[in-house]
Amino acid sequence: MYTEVKHPLVQHKLSLVRDKDTGSKLFRELIGEISKFLAYEALREIPVKPVDVETPLETAKCHHVESEIVLVPILRAGIGMLDALTDLVPNARIGFLGMYRDHATSKPVEYYSKLPEAKDDSVAIVIDPMLATGGSSVAAITHIKEQGFKNVILICIVSCPEGIATVESAHPDVPIYTASIDRCLNSHNYILPGLGDAGDRLFGTK
Ligand code: PRP
Ligand code: URA
Repeated sequence: MYTEVKHPLVQHKLSLVRDKDTGSKLFRELIGEISKFLAYEALREIPVKPVDVETPLETAKCHHVESEIVLVPILRAGIGMLDALTDLVPNARIGFLGMYRDHATSKPVEYYSKLPEAKDDSVAIVIDPMLATGGSSVAAITHIKEQGFKNVILICIVSCPEGIATVESAHPDVPIYTASIDRCLNSHNYILPGLGDAGDRLFGTK
């Protein structure tokens, strides 16, 4: 299941983030802002439990989030979404997965993993701005499930039909939230029209 979040503010911010003349500072801010909109949608159905809260006047029937949220950015570019999501879910625990695409094969190479312990009610949210071939996301989700996480959600800013199909085929239970499903991949497995190399634009490495 995938959801393309087409809120007008998301579309506006996405137009700025795609612009090749947008520098790292604004790029980072926009990636954070779009991430919040996507997480807002992605977390719409998470379980809540009833709690009584004493207002100055009486008891109010309220709700607290019941699940433990675990944010898992895929290094490097996922780091660009992390601050925004910890603003939204301050109690989230955080796991890190280091992964890069081999330039020749476009296959993911895993180089780091540090995840918190999975609990029965944990919801792991994989965050990465780009879903291209889908190799990195599939490898990340597979790894996270092997560590005991049963509920996994994928949030990516820009995706494409190839990446969505790959993730859906490997992990049909994992909902995908994205701000745009772009046209296709180019011969180097970059998304078209895309936004270029997310990691380089976030961290100014090119
Ligand atoms: C990018 C991106 C994803 C991956 C997507 O990372 O952040 O992790 O590529 O491509 P895929 O769907 O084809 O696997 P990259 O390998 O460039 O590493 P970086 O974040 O360190 O720049
Ligand atoms: N990684 C990126 O940063 N951009 C793409 O278009 C594809 C993979």
